[in-house]
Amino acid sequence: MLLEILTSWRTDCPPPLARLGYRYAAVACAARARRCAAAWAPHQQRTRAAILQAAADADPAGTALILGSGPCLDVPVAELAARFRRVVLADAAQLPAARALARRHPAVALATLDLTGMAAGLAQGGPPPPPGCTAFLGDAGIRLVVSANLLSQLPLLPLAALARQLPDQELERMGRRIVEAHLAHLRGFAAPVLLVSDIERHCLAADGTTLAREDTLFGATLPPGEEWDWLLAPSGELPGGQQLRTRVRAVRLDRSRSAPA
Ligand SMILES: C[S@@+](CC[C@H](N)C(=O)[O-])C[C@H]1O[C@@H](n2cnc3c(N)ncnc32)[C@H](O)[C@@H]1O
Repeated sequence: MLLEILTSWRTDCPPPLARLGYRYAAVACAARARRCAAAWAPHQQRTRAAILQAAADADPAGTALILGSGPCLDVPVAELAARFRRVVLADAAQLPAARALARRHPAVALATLDLTGMAAGLAQGGPPPPPGCTAFLGDAGIRLVVSANLLSQLPLLPLAALARQLPDQELERMGRRIVEAHLAHLRGFAAPVLLVSDIERHCLAADGTTLAREDTLFGATLPPGEEWDWLLAPSGELPGGQQLRTRVRAVRLDRSRSAPA
């Protein structure tokens, strides 16, 4: 608990984002990552390998932009900093781990911002603002964009903020709009884009049978890509011996790859 309080003090998060819960969520996620380190390691390794593969195909004479960088457990920051002229770690909250990486590597810069485009409006109250983000689209120096286990997280806090205002069906629709808006954002970049996201979550009983299945993308679909399982909540995290397992997909969204042959 003391560690979480200290982490929270040392986490940069603009007040409107902190009011919506982004600082708290980032600190809680870092604590979960510590508790589940062994179970999460294979997923983090697969994500880092996918990022390094995409980086190897990209022009290093520019910027690698990492969206949803968080504590950078999935992101091979040192390797990216050695390869690219500049690495931008973009997240709603900058944890001490990310701030330490920026201090250690002169090529690494931090960008603290909301990638749904909704937070400023939500923090003011009033009707739900439309999702949509154009951050970094004007930066001609970007040579690689990575959305790093971010997509399914984007709807969570906006939907929590809107839960009293919108009926369930509207919340579902808004969740999908937020997901689609991030995909549109990614497709706006001229640089190669790698998206890594969980796509489907299973709640498992102690004997391994599926109790419930959740579409983490609210009905939005992704192009095919390499897939793996991530044991998000191993035994001991949830009551009754239940576990959470999520399916992750790594997709290259480069414009050149989606162009018709
Ligand atoms: C599962 S974590 C990603 C883990 C990270 N890639 C790593 O290497 O450890 C999801 C991240 O998305 C960020 N996030 C969620 N909503 C966001 C938003 N609207 N704008 C920017 N970042 C957001 C969270 O702060 C969190 O760091």
